[in-house]
Amino acid sequence: MKEGLRKIEIDLGERSYSIYLGYDLLPQRIADLAGFSREKEVFIISDTQVNSFYGKRLEDLLLQQGYQPSFYLIKPGEEAKTWDNAEKILDVMLTKNLSRKVPLLALGGGVVGDLAGFVAALYKRGIPFIQIPTTLLAQVDSSVGGKVAVNHSRGKNLLGTFYQPRAVWADLMTLETLSMREWRAGLAEVLKYALLDGREFFLFLQENAEAILEKKPAVILSMIEQCILIKAEIVQKDERDEGLRNILNLGHTFGHALEKATNFQKYRHGEAVAVGLVAALKLAEALQMINSVVVAEVLCLMQKWGLPFSFSSALVDDVLRFLPADKKVENQEVHFILPMGIGEVVAKKGIPMEIVGDVLKQISDIV
Ligand SMILES: NC(=O)c1ccc[n+]([C@@H]2O[C@H](COP(=O)([O-])OP(=O)(O)OC[C@H]3O[C@@H](n4cnc5c(N)ncnc54)[C@H](O)[C@@H]3O)[C@@H](O)[C@H]2O)c1
Ligand SMILES: [Zn+2]
Repeated sequence: MKEGLRKIEIDLGERSYSIYLGYDLLPQRIADLAGFSREKEVFIISDTQVNSFYGKRLEDLLLQQGYQPSFYLIKPGEEAKTWDNAEKILDVMLTKNLSRKVPLLALGGGVVGDLAGFVAALYKRGIPFIQIPTTLLAQVDSSVGGKVAVNHSRGKNLLGTFYQPRAVWADLMTLETLSMREWRAGLAEVLKYALLDGREFFLFLQENAEAILEKKPAVILSMIEQCILIKAEIVQKDERDEGLRNILNLGHTFGHALEKATNFQKYRHGEAVAVGLVAALKLAEALQMINSVVVAEVLCLMQKWGLPFSFSSALVDDVLRFLPADKKVENQEVHFILPMGIGEVVAKKGIPMEIVGDVLKQISDIV
C-alpha cells in the first residue's frame, strides 16, 4: 500500500466495507468501482461549493477510466438536506432511467453524504453508494456508520434509515480548502472521540495541538485514522444504535439543545458540540464524578484550538427547555453521557435539573 494511505475495515458481515484515507487517493480508488457495479454510468451528488473545488477533477478521473458521470448539485448548507431535494434528485434519476446497479457517489460534507445516502437507499430499493467526504466532520463522523437522513420541519434527521456505503474514500487533500471555522467545528468531534477513547489519543492531540491547527499532513492522517477506528469499533458493536452507540452523543445532549435554542443559525454543529462538551465536563465536575484537573486540561486544549466553550447567558432557559426530556417520567428526566475521566464515560439520568441549570449558568457566565 502507498505510504500515507490507510485502509480501515468496517466489519458488518455482508454490509462490510473499507474506508480509505490518504492524500489524492481518488485516481487509485476509482478502479475499485468495477467491483461494485458493471455500469458505466455514475451518478454524483455534491454541493456547488465542493463541486467548484473538486467536481471537475472527479469528473475527469471518471471519464479517463471510461465512466459516464453525471452530477446533481445542491446548494451548500443544512437547508438543502430536505425531503424535497431527495424527491427532486430521485426524479432526475428516474428520468435518466438509471439502473438499480448504478453507483452513487457523495462528494461533500455531511449534508451531501446524508442526503445522497438517503437517496441511494430509496432508489429502486437501494443502489451502491460511495462516500467521498470532504469535511473533517464528514471524514471522522458522518461518513462512517451508515446513518442517512433528511431533515423535516419538525426536526433534524427525522426521516432516515441505516444504509451502509460500499466504500468511503476520504481524501485528505480536500481538507486544504476547508475554512478554519469548519476545521475547528470538526475538531470538537475529534476531542469527543479522545474523551471516549483514552489518554493516549488525548496526549497525541495535546502534543500536536498546533500542527493540527495547521493541518500538518502526517499528524492529521493519524488523527483522522484514530477517530475512524474509534467510531468503527462502536458501530461494529451497535450498528443500529440500540445501546452502545449512544456514547457517541457525548456533548450532544447540550449541543443539540443549544443548536435548537439558536434556531440552527448561530453555531456550526461542531461548535455547539464544543460547548456541549464543556457542559458535560462541568456537570460531571459538579457531581464530583471527574477530577477538576482533567476538566482544566481539556478546556486548555479547547482554548488552544479556539473552540467556543461558553454561550450567552440569555440562552440558558431556552437550552434547558430544549434538553430532550422523557415526557413520560415525572420531573422529565434527561439522559446525559458524562465523562468520568479521559476514556471513561457513563450514561446518567435523574440528575436534578437545578444542578444542570446551575452548571449552564456557570458556563454562560464565562462570556
Ligand atoms: N450520518 C451521520 O452519522 C452524521 C453524523 C454527524 C453529522 N451528520 C450530519 O452532517 C451534517 C453536517 O456536515 P458538515 O459539517 O460536513 O457540513 P456541510 O456538508 O454543510 O459542509 C459544511 C460547509 O463546508 C463546505 N465544504 C465541504 N467540503 C469542503 C471543502 N473540502 N473545501 C471547502 N469547503 C467545503 C460545504 O460546501 C458547506 O458549505 C449535518 O447535516 C449533520 O446532521 C451526520
Ligand atoms: Zn456530532
